[in-house]
Amino acid sequence: MPIETLFATRLYRAKLASRGVAALNAQMLRELAVLREDDGGGRQWSAVNYPGGYTSYGSVCRLQTVSPTFARLEHWLTPHIRAFARSLDLDLVGRPLTMTDCWINAMPQGVTHSLHLHPTATISGTYYVQVPKGAPGLKLEDPRLDRMMAAPPRRANARPANRTWITSPAVAGYVTLFESWLRHEVPANPVAAERVSVSFNYSWF
Ligand code: NI
Repeated sequence: MPIETLFATRLYRAKLASRGVAALNAQMLRELAVLREDDGGGRQWSAVNYPGGYTSYGSVCRLQTVSPTFARLEHWLTPHIRAFARSLDLDLVGRPLTMTDCWINAMPQGVTHSLHLHPTATISGTYYVQVPKGAPGLKLEDPRLDRMMAAPPRRANARPANRTWITSPAVAGYVTLFESWLRHEVPANPVAAERVSVSFNYSWF
């Protein structure tokens, strides 16, 4: 076919590690319970910015620096980040991509995380700790959407690369990476069980 694909938007999704993931997830859930109890500032922040749920984003947002469990996550993420940066042909000229922020999110039934991006970061992503059956994935928006003034809609069976929205499945033990400018959201959790994830940013200094 005389057709090229240009200006690609890449999404990386892989299992975090071949072993040890179940133990990591169990420990993260234990630490989440403690955080929720102790982190009054985070509960207040969540009540305003994440109604019905709990996130440490506004309070304990560098978990990798205070918990060996989250430091282990950072360690295990390293090969994934490297592989993704390689796939993007990023020329890092001697400066590493560094994890700047890492926070945990607990999303009970009815809680949503509306459309947003991660300003000031280079690569962002999510690691899934607990995903009940029927809980939402990560919904990603075509970054060119605001230019599509007269574009026809896409066929219902359009190839993923041609769709305007893509939902990447959330599966416990898996990591999803994307460039931080890519807008995304988590639709409301419809099931009566909690979806738990860890989100993070990597920046290039
Ligand atoms: Ni996000």
